[in-house]
Amino acid sequence: MSGIRSTGFLHLGNYFGAIRNYVRMQEEYTCYFMVADLHSLTTHPDTKELKPNVHRVLAENIACGLDPEKVALYCQSHVYETAELYLLLNMLAYKGELEKTTTFKDKVRQHPENVNAGLLTYPVLQAADILLHRASLVPVGKDQEQHLEMSRNFANRFNHRYREVFPEPFAFNFGEALIKVPSLDGTGKMSKSENQYATIFLSDSDDLIRKKIMKAKTDAGPSAPNMPMPDYIENIFLLMKLVSGADTIQKFEEDYNKAAIRYGDMKKQLAEDMIRFVAPIREKAESIRQDQAYLKRIMEMGAEKARISAAATMEKVREAIGLKYY
Ligand code: TRP
Repeated sequence: MSGIRSTGFLHLGNYFGAIRNYVRMQEEYTCYFMVADLHSLTTHPDTKELKPNVHRVLAENIACGLDPEKVALYCQSHVYETAELYLLLNMLAYKGELEKTTTFKDKVRQHPENVNAGLLTYPVLQAADILLHRASLVPVGKDQEQHLEMSRNFANRFNHRYREVFPEPFAFNFGEALIKVPSLDGTGKMSKSENQYATIFLSDSDDLIRKKIMKAKTDAGPSAPNMPMPDYIENIFLLMKLVSGADTIQKFEEDYNKAAIRYGDMKKQLAEDMIRFVAPIREKAESIRQDQAYLKRIMEMGAEKARISAAATMEKVREAIGLKYY
């Protein structure tokens, strides 16, 4: 089970960090992938963009290979049991631990004028998403580790206070080191909130991709053979490893080690390989986004699958708590 934020555009970091994992998981597991539209209300009180955002995130995930026939792909707000479990889990969550959550403290700092209770209990809603399907594997990045630990705590408290209902959920990846997708300005990784020009979005036009890559930081090149690589040059090689062929990478590595590399040529090659990777996803997502009837159908199908699992869990939950009076 995993949740997909509905704010912001998907970028290369999302693809290699998360979506690619989802696509692989769908072949081996029963999967629930949910668009976290309710979570977005904690930070985005203006809901004008909600519908286009939800449509886009669905379309982009499907364009990347997520198959709504194989998984339950649904919107959080369509599965009302989420709200019920959230309410019940709130009795097991303590004010102190919620206030200590890193993401909460960050949000308080960024938006001191909107510290609402939904923001404080964001991890409880996330735990409800996961536990609603009694999921144990949650494909998420490192930034979600604390939220997952809290989900485990809520699950354990529930099991101890009432009755064993929930397995402990853990972050999941396919046992590979997490891939870092470096940003194009030589600092940190691609992200939707940092420098927009240093991040490649799955919706970027061919031209924009070319412009962004040609602007990536380089220098005059190594002054002697076999020099160590500066970070920002290594980053360009890292990006190449994601989208270019092995012989292309080898050629530029050899050029670098001979101190004969031409960064202009390397970036041109990277731009073309990047376009070959992004353009089909962008075009497919665009055509899905146009097809409102299809989007409606897959949302209904996803919600139906999610509700079956949610209803079964909630039966166990109500029984365990003692909310059965006849
Ligand atoms: N908090 C997650 C994020 O910011 C999104 C999310 C919501 C989620 N519910 C979830 C992730 C359940 C995993 C499981 O990316």
